[in-house]
Amino acid sequence: MDIRQKLISKLADGRFHSGEVLAGYCGISRTAVWKHLANIKTQFGLEIYSVKGKGYRFAVPLELLDPNQIMSEISAVAKAQLSVLEIKEQIDSTNSYLMTLAMDEIESGHVCLAEQQTAGRGRQGRDWVSPYGNNIYLSIFWRFSSGLAGISGLSLAVGLIVAKILNQQGIENIGLKWPNDVLWRDRKLAGVLIEVTGEQGGPSNVVVGIGINSRMGDTHGETISQPWTDLATVTKGRVVSRNLYAARLIEGLVTGLDEFQTNGFAPLVEEWNRYDLHQGKRVELLSGIRRVVGIHRGVENSGALLLDVDGTTKAYFGGELSLRGAG
Ligand code: BTN
Repeated sequence: MDIRQKLISKLADGRFHSGEVLAGYCGISRTAVWKHLANIKTQFGLEIYSVKGKGYRFAVPLELLDPNQIMSEISAVAKAQLSVLEIKEQIDSTNSYLMTLAMDEIESGHVCLAEQQTAGRGRQGRDWVSPYGNNIYLSIFWRFSSGLAGISGLSLAVGLIVAKILNQQGIENIGLKWPNDVLWRDRKLAGVLIEVTGEQGGPSNVVVGIGINSRMGDTHGETISQPWTDLATVTKGRVVSRNLYAARLIEGLVTGLDEFQTNGFAPLVEEWNRYDLHQGKRVELLSGIRRVVGIHRGVENSGALLLDVDGTTKAYFGGELSLRGAG
């Protein structure tokens, strides 16, 4: 651990620590502590309170990602499918990172988690707000032998994996919005970004990225354009372990991606439809400049959205669903 990491790990408990104690712990002067903390504030956007006579503390406690704790929560079967677990302190985007590695011969089951993303990416070119130490930013690489056609429905399958994990952790009122938004009472709690490279006929190199809002804090959510929530709000402040969620996600993903490879999306359609928040409702589908309004009739085996437009049901493969403009 370098000095910066030492200071962050000490302050992670959210309590006051005197400059003297921190200096002794890191083997540096109190002035150096102050300088390092100022850097931490600037580099990671972490709020640090400083009170005369008490010392320094973080505005909120942080549960830092811990590879040992994560591994200890993963079953032996899933561990066998996990090729690498990397934890980055700060990175532009865990998806971009694995997409770069995908050019090399990395293996399926390569996972990257980060404490913070400086250029986190969402669907439709949006940013994914990624404050330090508080939410979950996870990407996994998987190589499918098939081409693009063979992985249709994958993004819905992943949304379902995330929704079920949240449900299994006791979070109720979780629903899905096609293709893969995970919502709690119509507010976005988690999102999935899937990126693919490869040849038309296969193999397909896939990076599955998942963001779960765990604790957004007071200011970070201000720039998010859609209604959102976080686990801290949903659980009314009950402590949510990021390490536990990370482990559950890894377990669910390696198992789920392996099953998807064999069976595709078809066996999941019924379960997906049970989580679907908008079936039977009048919705608007926006795809580039195209706008279609119709009644949502569920999803088909390919993952396509079925819309009843003026009495005719058609399948749609891409776009953003909304209830707002459906009038
Ligand atoms: C969405 O817009 O719903 C998708 C959000 C996906 C965010 C995750 S966070 C980890 C991974 N890295 C990224 O840059 N994006 C995904």
